[in-house]
Amino acid sequence: DKRLVLGVAGFGTVGTGLTSILEENRDWIIQRTGREIVVKTVLVRDVNKKRAVKLPEGAELTDDPARLVNDPEIDVLVELMGGIEAPKALILQALNAGKHVVTANKALLAEDGFELFRAAQQNGAGLYYEASVCGGIPIVQTLRESLAGNQMTSLVGILNGTANYILSEMTTNGLDFDTALSQAQELGFAEADPTLDIEGFDAAHKLCLLIRLAFGRDYPFSMLPVQGISGVDRMDIEFAREFGYRLKLLGEVRNVDGRLEAGVFPMLVHHTYLIARVGGAYNAVRMEGNAVGPVFLHGLGAGATPTGSAVLSDIMAVARGCAPNNTGFVEQVPAPADIMPPEEAEACYYFR
Ligand code: NDP
Ligand code: HSE
Repeated sequence: DKRLVLGVAGFGTVGTGLTSILEENRDWIIQRTGREIVVKTVLVRDVNKKRAVKLPEGAELTDDPARLVNDPEIDVLVELMGGIEAPKALILQALNAGKHVVTANKALLAEDGFELFRAAQQNGAGLYYEASVCGGIPIVQTLRESLAGNQMTSLVGILNGTANYILSEMTTNGLDFDTALSQAQELGFAEADPTLDIEGFDAAHKLCLLIRLAFGRDYPFSMLPVQGISGVDRMDIEFAREFGYRLKLLGEVRNVDGRLEAGVFPMLVHHTYLIARVGGAYNAVRMEGNAVGPVFLHGLGAGATPTGSAVLSDIMAVARGCAPNNTGFVEQVPAPADIMPPEEAEACYYFR
């Protein structure tokens, strides 16, 4: 079939970002894949809600999840609704029906991903998640494909756009914390529950996914030391500046003699470092492999079309008939013995 038919679950920031790119870049996508990508059904919570963005031509709006998984014409479920229980059930049903799944849901994959990857493997389907880490930055593809032959030694990054936006606005425009958070919410960067952003849990979800990709080991989310930025005020930022530092919420993992040391913390970064200069909702990741050396990626970590761009890259991989690559997730390789105990990490102060 020349058409690839999508069922899209969620028509919020990312869902509408995706459909706007599908419309704007339609001819280019056909040229790149040889196929037309068509949205048949869009799942939302409230079908009567007034919407600023039009549905794709020919698409139907529904609040019935079964319409996406029971329709044999739908090839791919694109899950962009967020949450844990509802998307988990939907994704499992889709995989068991032999459909590929593309998702931006890092919380679900980090906290409860193995069952989903196993279902994908058993059904010969792909479970794609480029958009779940760092929005538009192609970090999943980079670790899974481009740097696959490296043994990674370290990875550090700004993994949450909302937190970086807040810290940047407090630093450069003198905004207070709550005003900066409200702006991040209005711009569509924040999670439905912004506690995930400001308390560091969203960055921690992403770090868990990156650790599995980079090191092939499962660092359980529950074991990861996490500290957010809700306690940061303008004084902290001013003091840091006086000494030439910027305050950044960083996620970091290092392989120290075979032991993984990882965590998410607000850290002081000297202003001469590249990562200190990453502002707004931008994210950045610096990783180091034993063959390639250091690699630095930088780009928008949140927002409608940057994230939609990442979702679309996965959909286009399916359209091109790429073999599913669920590497790193099918086998659970627990490593509690060589994980730094959280108490030890919490006692650390990180300065770069
Ligand atoms: P939004 O809150 O903007 O949109 C969520 C959409 O999903 C809405 O259309 C909503 O319906 C629908 N929805 C939510 N729950 C249900 C449900 N139980 N049943 C049916 N429909 C439901 O979220 P985002 O677009 O911001 O985020 C979506 C996902 O993408 C999340 O997993 C998020 O973590 C992830 N993500 C978000 C990024 C961003 O920049 N915003 C970046 C990277 C990943 P209705 O419209 O009726 O309310
Ligand atoms: N809320 C997330 C962030 C969205 O601010 O980074 C992108 O994953």
